[in-house]
Amino acid sequence: VINNKCFASDNYAGIHPDILQAIADANRQHVAAYGNDDYTKKAIEKFHDHFGDDIDVFFVFNGTGANVTALSSMNRSYHAVICAETAHIQMDECGAPEKFTGSKLLTVPTQDGKLDTKLIARHLQRVGDQHHVQPHVISISQSTEYGTVYSPSEIQALADFAHQHNMYLHMDGARISNAAVGLGCELKAISKEVGVDVLSFGGTKNGMMIGEAVVFFNRHLAHDFLYIRKQSMQLASKMRFIAAQFHALLSNDLWKRNAMHANNMASLLSQQLSSLPGIKITQAVQANAVFAIIPKQVIPYLQEKFYFYVWNETLSEARLMTSFDTTEADIHEFSQYVKTMMK
Ligand SMILES: Cc1ncc(COP(=O)(O)O)c(C=O)c1O
Repeated sequence: VINNKCFASDNYAGIHPDILQAIADANRQHVAAYGNDDYTKKAIEKFHDHFGDDIDVFFVFNGTGANVTALSSMNRSYHAVICAETAHIQMDECGAPEKFTGSKLLTVPTQDGKLDTKLIARHLQRVGDQHHVQPHVISISQSTEYGTVYSPSEIQALADFAHQHNMYLHMDGARISNAAVGLGCELKAISKEVGVDVLSFGGTKNGMMIGEAVVFFNRHLAHDFLYIRKQSMQLASKMRFIAAQFHALLSNDLWKRNAMHANNMASLLSQQLSSLPGIKITQAVQANAVFAIIPKQVIPYLQEKFYFYVWNETLSEARLMTSFDTTEADIHEFSQYVKTMMK
């Protein structure tokens, strides 16, 4: 049984009540399908409030779909995408980016899930050689799969590097809200203002039921997106229900409140675990994830009561995720239980 005392992932959480209410409020009458409705118009206006008017926004069903369609808009099949070895597009999308874009992923090992220009440079060989795939996109995750974040200047450096080398910068922002809150900045300060071309904007992990957005700051790339989205089976006919959720998420700072709560819970969890002998926190806690080495023999007992994933079995490294509905009591109870089991 999975309950609130679960650190498996932020998508194990339910729907934030304001978002559920927004879905119920949108459940009236007939409205035009496929996004030609006022809910969609209003939700897109919310994106404009956050990112400015000079963007294009499209709603899709899920994060994999956002990434695949975003990358499809940037790449041809002989292009390659440079990403971290731990990137969701590489590890957890069952090869969907390769299948749908035809593009090869060129991976880079990292310590903390973050790319930098030195790590990327190794892949910039044989550019212009007809026998070799041509790197065309750098894809970064913000926050990363390790719960670390890129600072605005780190993103700007990657964007500059990408653009100097005739490439684009894609951001997998499944958890961009957690990253922005962790850095104490607005959403556009880590995306549009620092050279990101296309952003996969996350909703599901921050309190929505279903839905992500693809946001184009480089609007030339949005040219064929309507067709790419449809062909990729990511066009919702009852679009209003995704739109209404985004409208609620981006109103009254709900995106910020949810992410801030999740991040605070991760800080508390890391504080409590790091005080226990035998536990080692392995990554900086900058968003809503805690990575910790926990003695192998106690993990199954902990998982029975508080489910979480083991990220690296060899190291006995666990990944503990918090969400908008994690409570302080959950954290205290878990830490207490870890302490008891370690005795
Ligand atoms: C970094 C990242 N990107 C994208 C996704 C989107 O996944 P999904 O297709 O399950 O919505 C996830 C979900 O775990 C993720 O962690």
